[in-house]
Amino acid sequence: MAEAENAVLEVRNLKVEFPGRRGIATALSDVSLSIRPGEILGVVGESGAGKSMTGLAVLGLLERPGRIAGGEIWLADRRIDQLNDREMEKIRGREIGAIFQDPLTSLNPLFTVGAQLTETIRLHLGMNKAEATARAISLLKDVGIPSPEERINQYPHQFSGGMRQRVVIALALAASPKLIIADEPTTALDVSIQAQITSLLRKLCKEKQTAVMLVTHDMGVIAETADRIAVMYAGRLVEIGLVEQVLHAPQHPYTRGLMASIPALGARVERLNQIDGSMPRLDAIPEGCAFGPRCKQAGPRCRRERPNLLPAGSGASACWINAGGTA
Ligand SMILES: Nc1ncnc2c1ncn2[C@@H]1O[C@H](COP(=O)(O)OP(=O)(O)OP(=O)(O)O)[C@@H](O)[C@H]1O
Ligand SMILES: [Mg+2]
Repeated sequence: MAEAENAVLEVRNLKVEFPGRRGIATALSDVSLSIRPGEILGVVGESGAGKSMTGLAVLGLLERPGRIAGGEIWLADRRIDQLNDREMEKIRGREIGAIFQDPLTSLNPLFTVGAQLTETIRLHLGMNKAEATARAISLLKDVGIPSPEERINQYPHQFSGGMRQRVVIALALAASPKLIIADEPTTALDVSIQAQITSLLRKLCKEKQTAVMLVTHDMGVIAETADRIAVMYAGRLVEIGLVEQVLHAPQHPYTRGLMASIPALGARVERLNQIDGSMPRLDAIPEGCAFGPRCKQAGPRCRRERPNLLPAGSGASACWINAGGTA
């Protein structure tokens, strides 16, 4: 059973490895998080931090030879990290929906959107053709596509980028999954429609009580959409907490740096306050705290000992300074 009360998703001490010619690269280490029904967990962090990898591990879509080398993944009361490909295929679409950056990775250009929706609905919900068509039309209506009765017979290329991503959301929701993994769902879209798509996602997930893992670079999107935020650095979780806390009272020095590098909404800034240095490569993660070399507050303990997630504020942070001890 998932330990956190009512959790739809619970990831415990997840470790992902990529065996390679020069040894084993650890892409994720000790990642633990949970998401409740109707809750949206935003996942942020620099490029290469392990955000997508976490989503792919949950979906059972790690690219070989990548593998889950430790920890557990629970979907409600079912452990799913040890299932085989066939069993995971049944769970994807039915119990976990996915939305990726490019709508065309989820849609087949050769079939009408109606054919793709009804196929998913019939496969997972066992409806007949008429029932599935009615459900497809109602889903298209839910995601704000005008004249769904006509649009259902059109092909993906006949939709604009934003409308296409709405179709992908309809597809992800088609079988009423418990969880949706959305990885940069608006990055490829015109800035003017990004907010519409994320607020649609939020509205539908709140209505249907779907849990969402929302991976994004965009702090504006996170601020408006997420309930809690998980911050990743070099394959680990460094902070997790309620949106207000992580945005306005971040506990971990990395999160503070990340937040300071975002201009206030509407503010004109000459130069963003970037964190000096860059995230280490997977095969060169320093001993102790991985953020240590970039951290102005790091002390001897930070160079020696790797901090685990410990309670900080109303959430948790992996930093010796937050732990009340000395760095
Ligand atoms: N097929 C692979 N083999 C080995 N390492 C990989 C593979 N795919 C990704 N990685 C490594 O895993 C780490 C995490 O990658 P991931 O794609 O999760 O980053 P991310 O946080 O989603 O970054 P971005 O914001 O750029 O999407 C990176 O260091 C990446 O180089
Ligand atoms: Mg990514």
